[in-house]
Amino acid sequence: MDVSINQVLRLGQQKLKRNGNDNCVTEANILFGYSANKTLENIFTHPEDRVSRRTRGKFMQLVERRVGGEPISYICERSCFYSNEYIIKKGVFIPRPETEVLVGVVISEVKKNRSGKLICLDMCTGSGCVGLTIAKEVAVNIKKVFLVDNSLKALQCCRDNQKAMGLEKKTRLLRSNLFQSIPRIKFDYICANPPYIDRGEGESLDVSIRQYEPKGALFSGLGGLSHIKKISSDSTNFLKKNGKIFLEVGYAQAEETKSLLEVLGYKNVESFRDLNKIDRVVVGTWKK
Ligand SMILES: C[S@@+](CC[C@H](N)C(=O)[O-])C[C@H]1O[C@@H](n2cnc3c(N)ncnc32)[C@H](O)[C@@H]1O
Repeated sequence: MDVSINQVLRLGQQKLKRNGNDNCVTEANILFGYSANKTLENIFTHPEDRVSRRTRGKFMQLVERRVGGEPISYICERSCFYSNEYIIKKGVFIPRPETEVLVGVVISEVKKNRSGKLICLDMCTGSGCVGLTIAKEVAVNIKKVFLVDNSLKALQCCRDNQKAMGLEKKTRLLRSNLFQSIPRIKFDYICANPPYIDRGEGESLDVSIRQYEPKGALFSGLGGLSHIKKISSDSTNFLKKNGKIFLEVGYAQAEETKSLLEVLGYKNVESFRDLNKIDRVVVGTWKK
């Protein structure tokens, strides 16, 4: 029997809702759009259009995967970040809204420097959403953004995004365990959204994170600060005089990170809050 888009959507919404999904209307729309290869605009303007049996089957399969806890970004291989669409593959960290604070702080700093010669490094780049957004939004001020990760899956995904955004000339991908294989050049800005969850907290994470997202992108030793400490201290060898470090930190990690930067010799150390009023980004200036 032929059914309309509206009827199929309702089936999907009901299934998602029965399984506790509070965002069932939006998610059903996204999943249907992906199954039918239609834009949301298409769906809204022609809700009476007929849906083939094949598309209906595909849609309900995706709904099942979502009900099983798989993040919608992995199902649709897409995620929206800073108003840009990013390709996201399984095994690669899904960009989070709070990371837009990090990007916003870096961009406003980059805008102050119009030399067009800035060299930046995005450590722990994952999909590339931080470094690629910076390279795109303030392209005229920047010479190059280095995008660094130790995960091959992340770098492949980052390369796909780099190509899709046409940023091959502005950005360079490097595989490195933190700073181990970074060429000995000095950067104006180093930013990072590193793993920062205490390795003892795995069990308390939502199942969609615990079961689906890569552990190497989440955990950072006991206390969660191992990466932050290493990046902060190694950056002292890679920053120009008056260069800046920008670190995204976890809930309740800002004070310790600020003290750490001060002990290492960074000046003008400050933090910025996210929309939930949590200190989320710590910034320091290297004066030596
Ligand atoms: C929290 S994710 C952030 C990804 C991306 N920057 C974002 O904001 O969506 C952390 C990333 O750090 C990478 N990573 C973890 N340990 C690393 C290491 N020792 N060296 C380089 N990258 C590392 C992971 O592969 C992961 O892509």
